[in-house]
Amino acid sequence: MRSSLDEEAIGILKANDRGGFTVPTARLYPYQWNWDSAFAALGFAEFDRDRAWREIETLFEAQWPDGMVPHIVFRQNDPDYFPGPAIWQSNTEPPSSGHSQPPVTASIVLRLVESGGTADIERARALFDRMLAFHRWFHAMRDPEDTGLVGIIHPWESGRDNCPDWDIGMDRIVVPDDLGPYQRRDTEHIDPAERPSAEQYDRYLTIIKFGRECGWDHVEMARNGPFYMGDPGVQFILMRADRDLLRLAELLGERSAQSEIAHWLERARDGCQLLWNPAVNAFCARDLRTREFSDGITSASMLAFYAGAGSDEQRDAMAAHARRILDDVEFGFPSFDPTHPRFESKRYWRGPVWAIINFLIVDGLNNAGETELADRIKADTRRLIETAGFYEYFDPRTGEGLGGADFTWTAAVHLVWGSGSTNSQAA
Ligand code: GLC
Repeated sequence: MRSSLDEEAIGILKANDRGGFTVPTARLYPYQWNWDSAFAALGFAEFDRDRAWREIETLFEAQWPDGMVPHIVFRQNDPDYFPGPAIWQSNTEPPSSGHSQPPVTASIVLRLVESGGTADIERARALFDRMLAFHRWFHAMRDPEDTGLVGIIHPWESGRDNCPDWDIGMDRIVVPDDLGPYQRRDTEHIDPAERPSAEQYDRYLTIIKFGRECGWDHVEMARNGPFYMGDPGVQFILMRADRDLLRLAELLGERSAQSEIAHWLERARDGCQLLWNPAVNAFCARDLRTREFSDGITSASMLAFYAGAGSDEQRDAMAAHARRILDDVEFGFPSFDPTHPRFESKRYWRGPVWAIINFLIVDGLNNAGETELADRIKADTRRLIETAGFYEYFDPRTGEGLGGADFTWTAAVHLVWGSGSTNSQAA
């Protein structure tokens, strides 16, 4: 039996469907976003498996020749969004942005395969080479020195755009005189108090200018671009995705890929230790040029469990931080430590709660046997959606829904958790 909330969630996915790809929400985000699509696919899988696969297939249609799957695919020009295709100049068809986003796709494909049948295996098989090329791109272009730790070249590559994690890297960016005037669109849709500041926006565009001018040469971006930071979110999501890709390779009999993936996993075990900040006793973001650590614990730090990263001692320390942080808010899990001076309960990624991050954290905590913590975060997420609706993000103190309404990935998380299918049991 579907509840009325389930029906509402299905209605949101259908309404945001633009024919083969789904927008995160109407107007504010009018294109196809990388990790949003992966979560959308999970939601669709609860009522239309063919449509779920289409979502991932259309995302991979935008893959660059070098393997990158971009963070936004511009399938049509939409003046409601800035910065659009003319600013990025990707020179690809379809046009896209010039960097990537957290690579959750292989993990979601594995879920579809494990909860499905032969038809699902065949759809996964057809995508396998593209997924492998995407992971290869991440390791080669975002970790050119093979340290086992990938960097991100833009805060937007983290998917946690405006997090205080990036402040140390952003502060070092020098905005050139010839950046030129531009007109933001996000603050016309959403209260500017919840969005990034003008100074931050100039810096975001400075990185894009550098990328455009070097023809999106990704090794050049990693070595000499204006921004290069280690992100616990991308690192842990990639570690888990590598593990899930290896499992897919085994299931599909893709022998030749297996040793290559196993090598990435081995390197990453050491690489993630570069993110352990002894001063905070936690995994934190780090500027890979200056080696300076961010001193804040974020919801992405908690993805250590999802990746199975770190020692037992480190995971115990992270679980203790999780308890402390949850005790400090009404609804978990906040995107930034509420005891830190930079915490802001309503501003984008500087405090609010995101359902998709909770989904990943809960999956990891359950795998690590921390079921009490997992249940608490899941229950908080449910309460948020039940009382506020399918918002983009939520205030961890008041539960107020913030950002875009009728949001695709929030609806998807509800469906996966709500309908009691195999997927939700696995989560
Ligand atoms: C924002 C988020 C990003 C997301 C996008 C579309 O840019 O920070 O993670 O993919 O919106 O929902």
